[in-house]
Amino acid sequence: MDISVIVLAAGKGTRMKSRLPKVLQPLAGRPLLAHSLAAVAALKPSKTVVVVGHGADEVKAAFSSRGDLEFALQSPQNGTGHATAVGIAPIADGGITLILSGDTPLIQPKTLSKLSALANEKTFALLTCHVADPTGYGRIVRNDAGEVVKIVEHKDALAANDQATLAIHEMNTAIMCAPTAWLRRALTKLEPKNAQGELYLTDVIAMAAVDGLKIATTQPDGGETEIAGVNDKIQLAALECAFQHQQAEALMRDGVTLIDPHRIDIRGTLSCGSDVEIDVNCVFEGEVTLGDNVRIGANCVIKDATIAANAVIHPMCHIDGATVGESAIIGPFARLRPGAALAEAVHIGNFVEVKNSTLAKGAKANHLAYLGDATVGERVNYGAGAITANYDGANKHRTIIEADVHVGSNCVLVAPVTIGAGGTVGGGSTITKSTEPGALTVARGKQLSIPNWKRPLKTSK
Ligand code: UD1
Ligand code: MG
Repeated sequence: MDISVIVLAAGKGTRMKSRLPKVLQPLAGRPLLAHSLAAVAALKPSKTVVVVGHGADEVKAAFSSRGDLEFALQSPQNGTGHATAVGIAPIADGGITLILSGDTPLIQPKTLSKLSALANEKTFALLTCHVADPTGYGRIVRNDAGEVVKIVEHKDALAANDQATLAIHEMNTAIMCAPTAWLRRALTKLEPKNAQGELYLTDVIAMAAVDGLKIATTQPDGGETEIAGVNDKIQLAALECAFQHQQAEALMRDGVTLIDPHRIDIRGTLSCGSDVEIDVNCVFEGEVTLGDNVRIGANCVIKDATIAANAVIHPMCHIDGATVGESAIIGPFARLRPGAALAEAVHIGNFVEVKNSTLAKGAKANHLAYLGDATVGERVNYGAGAITANYDGANKHRTIIEADVHVGSNCVLVAPVTIGAGGTVGGGSTITKSTEPGALTVARGKQLSIPNWKRPLKTSK
C-alpha cells in the first residue's frame, strides 16, 4: 500500500531548557529528528511531511539538504491532532499515513514496518507498549472483548480522578498508522474538550472504534527503550547511553573486541574489518573505517578517517580527516589533521602534528614535530622538533622532502622548499633554499669555543 509519513516536530520542548529546538538536540552527534527520519526512510514512503512550529526555520535549515522532505508549518501549536491535520494537507488520499513524533529517536525500522503492515482502508494500526510506570502517557482503554475503544491522556484521567484508567499500564506510544482518507475526515472533527484545551490526535482512536474500523495493535520488539520519548536532558542522556550500548553490541556481534562496551561512543558510522580491537574511552565521529587487525588504544578521538589493516593507534591520539596506511604506527599523543595521508608502515610518534601532507611508505616522524602542506618521500626520517614553516602570514606553501632524506632535530624548513633525495639536514638548521640530492646541508650559527673563559664575578661593595 502507498504509505506517507507525518513526523510531529512542532512542540517547544520546554523541559530541555535550551535555545535549540528539541528535535535538533543531538543524540550520538545527530539531531533527534535525524534518527526518527532514518527509521522512517526504510519504509520508502511516497511522502514524508515534517510538521514544524517552534524554531521552524532552524529545523528546516538543519535538514535543507534533504530534498525528500516536505515541511508543514503549524502555528500556533494547538496539540498533536492539530499538528497532524496540518501535516496531512499535502498527502493524497488512497493510501495509509504513519504518524510519529520527532522525539522518539530509538524507534526501529522493523517496528514501523510491522505496524504499517497492519494498516489498510479498514484497519487503524496502533503501536502500544506495556510499561512499568505509565505516568504522563496516554492509556489504552480496551473493552471486555479486548478491543481498543479509546485513549485517555494521563492528565485527563487525573482530572477525572479515574483510578481505573490510571491503573492501566498499556500506554500509547503516539506512533500509529491510519487510512489517509478516513484520518483526514476524522481530524476535522476533533474538539479541544480536555484538560489541556488542545486537539488531541489520540481522540481519533475512539472515532475509529465508532466508525467500525478495526484497531490493530502491536508492540515494539525493543520494549520501552525503543519508544521512549525525550523531554529533558536526563532522558536525552539515558537514550544516548542506550543507543551507544546498542551500537557497541552490534560491533561485538560482528567480531570487534571492545575492552569495555560501556566506554565507547560512536557519533556516526564505524565500519570494522575482522579482529579489530578498541580500548576504552574512544570516540568515533562521522565516517570511520578500520581495516583488519587494527588496534586502537585508549582515549582516542577519531573522525572521518580510514585506517588500513594492521595499523596500531596508540592511546591519546586525535585523528580527523586522515588516512592511515597498512601497518602504520601512530601515537601515543599524535594529531593527524585533515588531509594527512599516510602510506604503509609510516610511524608518527608523540606530539607530532600532521596536516594536509602525504607521507610515503616507511616515512617516520617520531617526536615533537610539525608537518604541514608537505610531501614526504619513502623512508624519510624527520627529526624531533623539526617543523615546516608553511605559512608566510598570507599564503601556504609546500615543502617537498624527497625519499631517504634525514632531517635533523630542531630544523625549520621554510616553504616553498625541496630537500633533494637522500640528503641530510643538520640539526638546528633553518632551510630557506632547496638542497641538492645527497647533500649534507647545515644552516646554523657556527659553534665557537673560548678556552678557559672566566665568568664575570660579583663586585663586592
Ligand atoms: C503524546 C500522546 C500520548 C502518548 C505520548 C507518548 C497526545 C495527545 N498524547 O503525549 O498519548 O502517550 O505522546 O510519548 O497525542 N507536537 C506538535 N504540535 C503540537 C503539540 C505537539 O507538533 O501542537 C509534537 C511534539 O513536538 C512532539 C509530539 O507532537 O514531538 C508529541 O507531543 P507531546 O506534547 O510530547 O505529547 P505528550 O504529552 O508526550
Ligand atoms: Mg512527549
